[in-house]
Amino acid sequence: MTTTRRKKKDRVLVFDTTLRDGEQSPGASLDHREKVEIAHRLARMGVDIIEAGFPIASPGDFRAVHEIAQAVKGPVIAGLARCVEADIARCAEAVMPAKKPRIHVFLATSAIHRKYKLRKARAEIIKHAVASVTFAKSFVDDVEFSPEDASRTEPDFLAEVVEAAIDAGATTINVPDTVGYTMPDEFSRLIGELYESVPNIHDAVISVHCHNDLGLAVANSLASLQAGARQVECTMNGLGERAGNAALEEIVMTLQTRNDVYGPLWTNIKAESLVPISRLVSRLTGMPVQRNKAIVGANAFAHSSGVHQDGVIKERSTYEIIDPAAVGCHDGTDLVLSKLSGKNGLRQALSRVGVTLDSEELAEVYKRFVDLADKKKVIYDDDLLLLASEQMSDTATIYSLEGMQVTAGSSTIPTATVKLRKGEEVLQEAACGDGPVDAACRAIDRMTKVSGRLLDYSLQAVTVGKDAMGEVSLRVAFDDQTVSAKAASTDIVEASAKAYLSCVNRLLSNPGAGGGKVPKRKTP
Ligand code: KIV
Ligand code: ZN
Repeated sequence: MTTTRRKKKDRVLVFDTTLRDGEQSPGASLDHREKVEIAHRLARMGVDIIEAGFPIASPGDFRAVHEIAQAVKGPVIAGLARCVEADIARCAEAVMPAKKPRIHVFLATSAIHRKYKLRKARAEIIKHAVASVTFAKSFVDDVEFSPEDASRTEPDFLAEVVEAAIDAGATTINVPDTVGYTMPDEFSRLIGELYESVPNIHDAVISVHCHNDLGLAVANSLASLQAGARQVECTMNGLGERAGNAALEEIVMTLQTRNDVYGPLWTNIKAESLVPISRLVSRLTGMPVQRNKAIVGANAFAHSSGVHQDGVIKERSTYEIIDPAAVGCHDGTDLVLSKLSGKNGLRQALSRVGVTLDSEELAEVYKRFVDLADKKKVIYDDDLLLLASEQMSDTATIYSLEGMQVTAGSSTIPTATVKLRKGEEVLQEAACGDGPVDAACRAIDRMTKVSGRLLDYSLQAVTVGKDAMGEVSLRVAFDDQTVSAKAASTDIVEASAKAYLSCVNRLLSNPGAGGGKVPKRKTP
């Protein structure tokens, strides 16, 4: 985005209501210290107005707004109040220490709210709104008025209320889509009509406040900006009542990324703060961010399919419209290795963990990688290191494990059926043992015609997650020779059988190199 041609008239004021509407999210809660911490971060990010809370709602809310007003410098600090004198006076007291205090008063205007909730006629609503704006103005210059449920209010009546509120001194008129009912075309038309029908409209900033009940909060907000609104109310991570509010990060990044469409509109937000603040808000509210959430979700810059990974490696912009670093995602582009990943993705991931393979070796590792990825959803760096180290071992693979089946339990004799490949030949044997591992080793002994005795056995989880790889380390005695080997698998009996088979392969391919003699038992 160019900064040289930014004009004041094109500036979109960002009104963050994470601490008020966002905190109304079922399940979210913040204490006053946490609210102050978030407010400081929002201020540093460049938010223009922070709605810090609803002071009459509780002593905790009052305290949070009051402390934010005292401590947070830069943005306007707003508090919410119903059109009730006690609310407004309490709100005034809370925001007063701020350098730029604002009182935000709201009153429902739609027919449905007038009839069922307020039981007031149109004229009474106007009178009440005017009296409340006037009362708020007796405390502060900066007064915002919201005709609640504006998008379901008769447009002619909405225009009347807005005109009266501006006449009474409202400096911002906020048009809420309180129940997330409107559609982009409809909402931009409504804003356009207000501009046409309200004579004093240019005496106030027109703001919008969209809820996400139909998943359209961001689309509706953006449409209204194109129709002339210049303040947008939003929350981090789209937190808010019911399905939430418009997500701040999505609005800011759409304006920036689609500069060709939104042209001269600009905000003062430092985009590189978006991901860090999103994480802070998520941690403090206890509201996790869905993985596939735009801009700030864990998968927002993760590529899983081989085709996409290949594209991103060649040129990031093939599959990414935003540079992760630009929104403060310093984990960067994430090439998630899964069964859909291609060889190029694997090569890149191996090189990231410091392993370089020639194309033959890579082809071998790739085969084993695909097998493993069939069993594990995500392959971690440690998994890769294990695969690579298996490949780089100098032991010839005389026998390889083709498959195995094990039966074990408290009331059965442990039995293993093991299938091995030796060149073109496929062998199969079954054996019983003291446990499933012992049974598998005995079955292997029968096919390989060697007989080993376990000297040491250890098992370690080497990767993370419930589907972590278990690594088995063995020391096995074959007559007078001991051999050690390791193997890993998501199945620990399979890891044991593989490790045992590695010992057999080492014994057969490097006779004498196994690592020591087993002292012969003295004949009595
Ligand atoms: O959704 C809404 O209408 C509100 C008002 C208080 C602005 O949150
Ligand atoms: Zn709201």
